Amino acid sequence: MEIKIFDDYERMSSAAADLIIDIVKRNPVAVLCFATGNTPVLTYKLLAEKAKEEKIDFSKCFCIGLDEWLGVSPDKSGSCHYTLYHQVFRPLGIKDSQIHLFNAMTKDIESECKKMNELIEKVGGIDFLLAGVGVNGHIGFNEPGADVSLLAHDQELHDTTLSSGQNYFSEPTPIKKGITLGMAQVMKARKFLLLANGIKKAPIMKQALEANITNNVPASFIQQHAGGIVILNKEAASALSK
Ligand code: GLP
Repeated sequence: MEIKIFDDYERMSSAAADLIIDIVKRNPVAVLCFATGNTPVLTYKLLAEKAKEEKIDFSKCFCIGLDEWLGVSPDKSGSCHYTLYHQVFRPLGIKDSQIHLFNAMTKDIESECKKMNELIEKVGGIDFLLAGVGVNGHIGFNEPGADVSLLAHDQELHDTTLSSGQNYFSEPTPIKKGITLGMAQVMKARKFLLLANGIKKAPIMKQALEANITNNVPASFIQQHAGGIVILNKEAASALSK
């Protein structure tokens, strides 16, 4: 695992965007998995700008979504589906045929998960996965205490996740459960980029990076990921001792 600390959100986002560009330049058929949330917003904006400037071709990539709020329609602006289409796929010219996201409206969660698991196998695994971290240490919707051997699964969400989740929606939205790639899939991604910014993330980043690896802090598993990269701004890194 590598840790990179930048002075501010702008510089860390630019570094994260450069990393994605570099991956696609080296491997134009890369399988990319993206999280949503506030943290990667600027990364995605800069990625679209840099990709346009440098004429990076995303037409052969395949994109997978990390997680989704179950029961939230894809046309709702806070859904991961809506967010990824608006922040990543459309700006990069990525077509529907290159995308597979969880269907939040499914009545059959088991087969939705199976579909995702099989697809990841079929495309040869994930080359690059970008995740943010919850203030409770979650990755995707792998909440504290998650069984880290799981593949895609549904998950009851913790109170902190439910309350911070409301911030993504323009109106109160009933959310209870999520559907997510499992930690087994996150850990198998060939590169795993974890982004954290702001003072709010400082305590959990200390636990994730400097305490023992534990499923009570799913983000701590990045410590044992050979292709793990953590990009932080100074504030998020402010509790680290080294
Ligand atoms: C959300 C999402 C995650 C996201 C994380 C951090 O609940 N399920 O995929 O990375 O929490 O969000 P933020 O970047 O807004 O702090």
